[in-house]
Amino acid sequence: MSFVFVDKIIDLIMSVIGWIKRTTIATIAISIEVAIMLWLMFYFFAETLILTLTPTFMRTQKSLKGKVVVLTGGAGGVGQELALRLARADAKVVLWDINEEAMVKVKDNLEKEGHQAYCYTVDVTDRKNVYKNADLVKQEVGVVDILINNAGIVCGNTFLDIPDYMIEKTFQVNILSNYWTVKAFLPDMLRKGKGHIVTRHQTRHHRFPRKFTHRIEDARSSRD
Ligand SMILES: NC(=O)c1ccc[n+]([C@@H]2O[C@H](COP(=O)([O-])OP(=O)(O)OC[C@H]3O[C@@H](n4cnc5c(N)ncnc54)[C@H](O)[C@@H]3O)[C@@H](O)[C@H]2O)c1
Repeated sequence: MSFVFVDKIIDLIMSVIGWIKRTTIATIAISIEVAIMLWLMFYFFAETLILTLTPTFMRTQKSLKGKVVVLTGGAGGVGQELALRLARADAKVVLWDINEEAMVKVKDNLEKEGHQAYCYTVDVTDRKNVYKNADLVKQEVGVVDILINNAGIVCGNTFLDIPDYMIEKTFQVNILSNYWTVKAFLPDMLRKGKGHIVTRHQTRHHRFPRKFTHRIEDARSSRD
């Protein structure tokens, strides 16, 4: 009888020791994680603060000389301006746009200034088209260093007046396409251990009504 009692005491002591061990290990692990997180928070906060307070002309600028930059929506208003600035910074500008005619004009303008430019007619919503053209760019121009997702569409209607197909189209062009382009170029950047992806977030390209005064009939009329 007394042996059974001693066994139970030993079991209890062992389980308490086990619990202390597990708790200590968990506490140490959590403390390390918290310490790392705090350090990173401090580091990035300090870096952001210093960069924000440093005037642009005093910052070291990254050289774009010879960098291959894919710019989607390169034929549009913002695209043209970006293309020009990138080209003037000696980047190899690769324009992607669905509007071939306008894109060729942008390319011609860049070439008139003596810059090197390439253009590919790509519908960024078509992922097979994106992957095919990404391979072509790699073969014909080189591995991409910078991807700028700029292609987009704007629907100027108020929210309830936007036809459903336009909502779908907006998501395909402004959101989903970014997944295809990033999937096409990110692996090379990871392999090289460097690269940049710039994506303009364009989810809210419609106007919300000031007051939700739409009648149910109005809302229905905008469906499909
Ligand atoms: N201009 C502004 O003030 C402003 C402000 C905020 C956001 N934006 C967004 O920035 C981006 C560029 O603006 P922008 O003023 O140059 O617009 P834009 O309409 O002049 O240019 C957009 C370009 O994207 C291209 N495009 C559209 N669908 C495409 C597709 N499926 N595949 C490939 N290319 C496609 C168009 O052909 C066009 O050349 C747009 O997405 C716009 O919504 C613009």
